[in-house]
Amino acid sequence: MKIAVTSASGQLGSSIVKHLIAEIGAKNVIGIARTPEKAAHLGVEIRKGDYNNPQELELALKGIDAVLLVSGMDEPQKRIQQHRNVIEAAKLNGVKKIVYTSIVGAEENNAFSPIVQTNRQTEEDIKVSGLEWVIGRNGIYIEPDLEYIDTYLKEGEVRNCAADGKCTYTSREELGFAYAKMLVEEKHNGNTYNLVGNAITQTELVSFINQEFNTNLVFNSVSVESYLAERKAALGDFIGTVIAGIYAGIKNGANDVPSDFEKAAGRPHISTLAMMENFKKKM
Ligand SMILES: NC(=O)c1ccc[n+]([C@@H]2O[C@H](COP(=O)([O-])OP(=O)(O)OC[C@H]3O[C@@H](n4cnc5c(N)ncnc54)[C@H](OP(=O)(O)O)[C@@H]3O)[C@@H](O)[C@H]2O)c1
Repeated sequence: MKIAVTSASGQLGSSIVKHLIAEIGAKNVIGIARTPEKAAHLGVEIRKGDYNNPQELELALKGIDAVLLVSGMDEPQKRIQQHRNVIEAAKLNGVKKIVYTSIVGAEENNAFSPIVQTNRQTEEDIKVSGLEWVIGRNGIYIEPDLEYIDTYLKEGEVRNCAADGKCTYTSREELGFAYAKMLVEEKHNGNTYNLVGNAITQTELVSFINQEFNTNLVFNSVSVESYLAERKAALGDFIGTVIAGIYAGIKNGANDVPSDFEKAAGRPHISTLAMMENFKKKM
């Protein structure tokens, strides 16, 4: 069985490749990358595949039994067609199964919703593709918060607009483990899974960071409007709006969802503290 993973040069794609190698061996795993040289270290065959290039994708999926489609990074309206390019290339090559990395989140009412909507459209496109399918809805990665600790320390606080909303964080490592199982095990076909860990507030997140990284941070919540203005000024309109929308969603409960992780992975999701310990080991 040959399984291909798109965006293999990225952090999620490379985690899935690593866990797939453990399941089926390196010679059965193919990494597809827009920039192949960035995926060369993975120790598997790498084929070129830009989401904007149907011909490249068609060649990249030759002889493949199942493909993992990592959600794209482009602006919302471009993503739908990019994902369709992968789905069409899979159909043309007789690929039997597609697994898609979607996202947890509110489809309406916040600045992140347009991105969630494009992911839901791809979920629909996959369901009507005629291929066997599995969809994972990823929780928010915990790693960016941990990579940001130095900035939090400089600012003396963790500040966002999530108030006391709960968020089910996960990690790329946990997701990689689950997606490898979803690709190789037939029992997952036709399922949509929330791939998330425990639900915690920002106050709890900061308390775990303090415990694990020996810091003394506090959490301060600000209004959605002022956080949006602040993030846009710091990160530009697109990314700033996305980030503020994510925290507005957390405030409103969009990320407090039941977890299907154990069903997908065959074991429980690790704790928030354990994710932080694993992150520290890689620092
Ligand atoms: N759940 C969350 O908290 C969260 C947070 C951020 C993003 N996401 C989503 O999760 C996805 C994967 O995250 P990540 O951590 O792996 O991000 P990452 O490390 O930044 O990797 C992004 C990957 O997307 C690839 N890519 C970008 N445009 C492409 C195109 N036109 N065709 C083919 N590949 C393309 C990049 O290829 P190159 O190496 O060529 O640049 C890279 O491999 C993201 O794309 C985004 O949709 C989720």
